[in-house]
Amino acid sequence: MRTSRPSLRVRLTAVLAGAAAVGALLTAGATTARAADVPLRDLADAKSKVMGTAVTGSKLTGTYGDIAGAQFNWLTPGNAMKWGSVEPTRGTYNWAEADQIVAFAEAHGQQVRGHTLAWHSQNPSWLTNGTWTSAELSQLLNDHIALEVGRYKGRLAAWDVVNEPFNEDGTYRQTLWYNGLGTGYIAQALTAARAADPDAELYINDYNVEGVNAKCTALYNLVKSLKEQGVPIDGVGLQAHLILGQVPSTLQQNIQRFADLGVDVAITELDIRMTLPSDSTKLAQQAADYKAVMNACVAVTRCTGVTVWGFTDSDSWIPDTFPGQGAATPYDENYAPKPAYYAIAEALGGSGPSTDGCTATYSVSSQWNTGFTGQVTIACAGGSLSSWKVGWEFGAGQQITQAWNATCTQSGTAVQCVNASYNGTVADGGSVTFGFNGSWSGSNPVPTVALG
Ligand code: XIL
Repeated sequence: MRTSRPSLRVRLTAVLAGAAAVGALLTAGATTARAADVPLRDLADAKSKVMGTAVTGSKLTGTYGDIAGAQFNWLTPGNAMKWGSVEPTRGTYNWAEADQIVAFAEAHGQQVRGHTLAWHSQNPSWLTNGTWTSAELSQLLNDHIALEVGRYKGRLAAWDVVNEPFNEDGTYRQTLWYNGLGTGYIAQALTAARAADPDAELYINDYNVEGVNAKCTALYNLVKSLKEQGVPIDGVGLQAHLILGQVPSTLQQNIQRFADLGVDVAITELDIRMTLPSDSTKLAQQAADYKAVMNACVAVTRCTGVTVWGFTDSDSWIPDTFPGQGAATPYDENYAPKPAYYAIAEALGGSGPSTDGCTATYSVSSQWNTGFTGQVTIACAGGSLSSWKVGWEFGAGQQITQAWNATCTQSGTAVQCVNASYNGTVADGGSVTFGFNGSWSGSNPVPTVALG
């Protein structure tokens, strides 16, 4: 592993903040039923991981800015550092948004991941429409990298130097760079970036390379060969623009095989999209998917951490790019944390939503020879909920047969019910009731219910 100044800074902060986060968890746990929410960045620190988000500079005020600053310790400019953003007209530069994001990060003790230098997309039209000799193209690439990486020298922890170099079948993507310079553009870009900022970790980043497949194996072979040639390459970025219920089963194994090559791995653009509208079942599946991705990274030492591609559904590229899809991020459009947010927290050793001030009460409203109707009321006084989950054990063989106003599942004696899409919110002073039918024989005692 390269020992550059940014990495040392990360590790030191992790140790210090980690100790604080563990202390806070213990204290809160001793005095309340559930620990108060600990920001994701502190939970990540305690695990020596980073938790990042892509951001849009113009939105970094108000609630958006508060959450971006409080919950995350890495930022990636979603668009601000792309070539088309910084040099829309040849020789005319616009660094305003990129500068603003870097300044915001420094003010909030955050690291920045630069994104991105050599890509086929979001380039200025003067570049893509130009006619260039190989020598001219080579010069353009070198100059661009020297200028942009040099501008932020010593201030950025990492760069996605090369983005999306492969086709799905593992062949090289036909791009401006590949067509003009051959595969050598990759080593050239990495070498230029190292020269411009020796302390930044240099990455190759791609999508659909999260599981072991043809594209990912091409990436693996490229990284292996770059390492063998002594080309500066420090890490691999797995973008992870995933589809609900389709986290690759080989994710952890795949992260590990890159780590075994002697490079770091980062999940750089995580989002998990679903067909709209969202509902409680899809959001629960999404939470499980987020947790699976987090767990895979936490399990591999050289996985540096996870960046989400936008933290709120109001700032996500998904609805524009995949019509009919969305709800892909951990916070909803009104900045309420979704089950996915708590799943991330739990994977990092934190807790689910605080249920302080809220209670769940179980009662049997009618009972006949083999069946019964029950209900659970969730009431808040001095707290509130944006989603809820109630669990209990049926110790006398009871079995749920049907539920309404909640989605209930029973596995053996354990029952778990989560809110429906329309009744997750319980205001301070308010309540929500759901009901169910069940079967019983012998006895039908009232179980102890847990809200959480
Ligand atoms: C996306 C941005 O989020 C959008 O705002 C923009 O319109 C298109 O690009 N892979 C990448 C990112 O590496 O740069 C892309 O970002 C998403 C896919």
